[in-house]
Amino acid sequence: MFYYSARPPKEIMSTTRRAFLSRSAILAASVAGSAAAQTPNPHPNPDAPLTFQPPRRPVIITRETLDNSVTEAYALLEQGADTLEAAIHVCQAREDDPSDHSVGLGGLPNEDGIVELDASVMHGPTRRAGSVAALTNIRHAAKLADTVMRRTAHVMIVGNGAEKFAVAEGFEPENLLTDDARKIWLLWKEHGIGWWGPGIDSPDWKPPVATPPGAIPQAALPSMLQLPRHPTREHLPAVEARMRFLSDRAGRMGIPARLRAEAALQVLWPTTGTIHVSALNTKGEMSGATSTSGLAWKIPGRVGDSPIIGAGCYTDQDIGSAGATGNGEENIKIAGAHTIVDLMRRGATPKEAGLETLRRLARNYNNDMTRLRYLDMIYYILRKDGAYASVSLWSTRGTGEQKKFVVHDGTLRTEPCDYLFEGTTQSIHPF
Ligand code: GLY
Repeated sequence: MFYYSARPPKEIMSTTRRAFLSRSAILAASVAGSAAAQTPNPHPNPDAPLTFQPPRRPVIITRETLDNSVTEAYALLEQGADTLEAAIHVCQAREDDPSDHSVGLGGLPNEDGIVELDASVMHGPTRRAGSVAALTNIRHAAKLADTVMRRTAHVMIVGNGAEKFAVAEGFEPENLLTDDARKIWLLWKEHGIGWWGPGIDSPDWKPPVATPPGAIPQAALPSMLQLPRHPTREHLPAVEARMRFLSDRAGRMGIPARLRAEAALQVLWPTTGTIHVSALNTKGEMSGATSTSGLAWKIPGRVGDSPIIGAGCYTDQDIGSAGATGNGEENIKIAGAHTIVDLMRRGATPKEAGLETLRRLARNYNNDMTRLRYLDMIYYILRKDGAYASVSLWSTRGTGEQKKFVVHDGTLRTEPCDYLFEGTTQSIHPF
């Protein structure tokens, strides 16, 4: 097990003193107009990162995509393409799929019915980053983040500014709210619950009261839609009642039969899906990309972790790359992806670094399992030598199946995630 060890005060003192001396030296040199200002600090850093040898085969790590994009991206890497191009290729396939309601075209909208996308990229070889947030009308959010990185002196552009920038750079504006997503939103608008809190980290938050099965008057159903995300057997009658109620309402609203069950599920358990991809080539170059439509039914302007460099995505060319899917608010508070990479810098394996970062998330709740039950997080972690891991706060999906991630290192496969807690998250919706 890896534990983050605090540096002794003596080292902090000496680092501070070194920093002061080196600042003084640079100042003196620049005053004198001397080239000595370019001289590297002669004192080696006691926390100097470990060095890693590149892998013999490229490696890609991501979530399940149910398409060919990971195979295609791997072929790109084998042909010598840039690692960020490969990572964006996988994101773009999800952004183009209208049936993926967690990203790009077809993403579920905010509470006003407007699709707002978040994305970020980090390019290891040039040590640069780009990001967009609350982006409207442009489906390729990851590519736009890349364009921010390559074409501007900024790292992050948000809202209207991001859309205007995209159009100026030749991206095609379009309405991202598909007919199916609009219908699901209409059902939520009529019968769903919003995100106006109190949030799960609020002292005022209380767990939802479980309604005894059979005790739900039909008339009360619209205002009693909250349920555990992964209900147990005793919840089944209540779940079935709510699903029947919502499917029936969906039918009356003209939602086609093929979409009714999905619409009902999205009202009861709003999507939090995202895609993160980290890619590494045989030169040891690596990049990361993360793209999402964020939390379904979010308050307009809400920005999650995906576009936050260091939270939803972080790549350090010396060490590794990491990214996240799950409750963005929680991941922002622990700068998850950066924390993971920094722990690896200090010697943790990808799995140890991921689990330690999840412990920090749990620590923010004093390990209060009543609250942690309502949260979820998965990290995707790739080290420069090709070692990898994916770790999850909770072990299983609602089906009882262990959570999985996708890796391609010459062979494309899924592997089970490591996890901090045994069981399933109860609900993404804490109210
Ligand atoms: N992790 C995606 C979001 O919270 O927006």
